[in-house]
Amino acid sequence: MEDSSTRSWNGIADDWANHADENDYKNVFLMPQTLALFSDVTGKDILDLGCGEGSYARALSSMGAVVTAVDGSDRLIEIAQERARKYKLKIEWLTKNANLLQGLDDCSFDYVLAAMSLMDVEDYQGSVSEIVRVLRPEGQLIMSILHPSFSGRKCKWWHDGDKRFDHYAVDDYFKKESWKEHVTDKFKNLVIFRHIPLQSFMNPLIEKKLRLVLFKEPKPDEKQLSKSKRLSRLCRVPFFLIMVWQK
Ligand SMILES: C[S@@+](CC[C@H](N)C(=O)[O-])C[C@H]1O[C@@H](n2cnc3c(N)ncnc32)[C@H](O)[C@@H]1O
Repeated sequence: MEDSSTRSWNGIADDWANHADENDYKNVFLMPQTLALFSDVTGKDILDLGCGEGSYARALSSMGAVVTAVDGSDRLIEIAQERARKYKLKIEWLTKNANLLQGLDDCSFDYVLAAMSLMDVEDYQGSVSEIVRVLRPEGQLIMSILHPSFSGRKCKWWHDGDKRFDHYAVDDYFKKESWKEHVTDKFKNLVIFRHIPLQSFMNPLIEKKLRLVLFKEPKPDEKQLSKSKRLSRLCRVPFFLIMVWQK
C-alpha cells in the first residue's frame, strides 16, 4: 500500500541508485560496519527491508544467505533486480510497504536487516509490528538509522571565520516533524526527511518485548578515514546509529 514515504522515495529512485554507487558514507563506512554484525549467514533466511538499489541484499546473498528484499518503491525494486541479474544471484525482490508485509509468513526470518530505512517510513509503529511478526524466535533485527540526536531539521554545522567546521548545533530535538529536502544537489526531486526523538525509535521495540543486544554509535577507523576525508566528521559527531534487537 502506497503512502507518503513510498511515493516520495519512488520519485528519487534513479538518482538514489546513482548516488549509492559513490556514497562513501555507505560504501566505505556503514555497509562494512553493518555486515560485520552478521554471524555466519550460510542458509539463513534474511529479509532486507527498505533494500533500495539492493547492495546489502547482493552482499548477503553472495555470503550464502537466502535473501528476500523488500522496498516501497517499484522503481528501486526494478533497478535492484536489474543489478542483481548481472551477478546471477537468486534473491526474491518484492515491492511492499514495510508496514504491510502481506505474503511473508509469521516467524519466517532469522534476520531482518533495516539499513537506513526505518527513519524514512511514514508508519514506524506499523513497520515494527510487521518486523516482529516475520522474525523467528531469537531472530534479530539489525537496524541502522540517522542518529536522531543529530539529524533533526535544525541541526547543522556552524563555521568559523576560516570556513572550517567549528561546532555542531542541535535544536527542537523533541519536535516530531517531516520536511522535504534534496539528498544532495545532484538530485532532481525532493524527498521527505523525518525526525522523531530516540525514545520514539526505542519504545515500540521495547513494547514488543524485543531485547536490545547492541547499541553502537559507529566511528570510522584509520583505514576508513584514509579512503574518505569527510568521514572525519564522524569522529566529532556520530551521525549514524546501529542497533541489534533480538526477539
Ligand atoms: C536511505 S534509503 C536506504 C536504502 C538501502 N537500505 C541502503 O542502505 O542503501 C531508504 C530506503 O527505504 C525505502 N522506504 C522508505 N519508506 C518505505 C516504506 N514505507 N516501506 C518500504 N520501504 C521504504 C526507500 O524506498 C529507500 O529505498
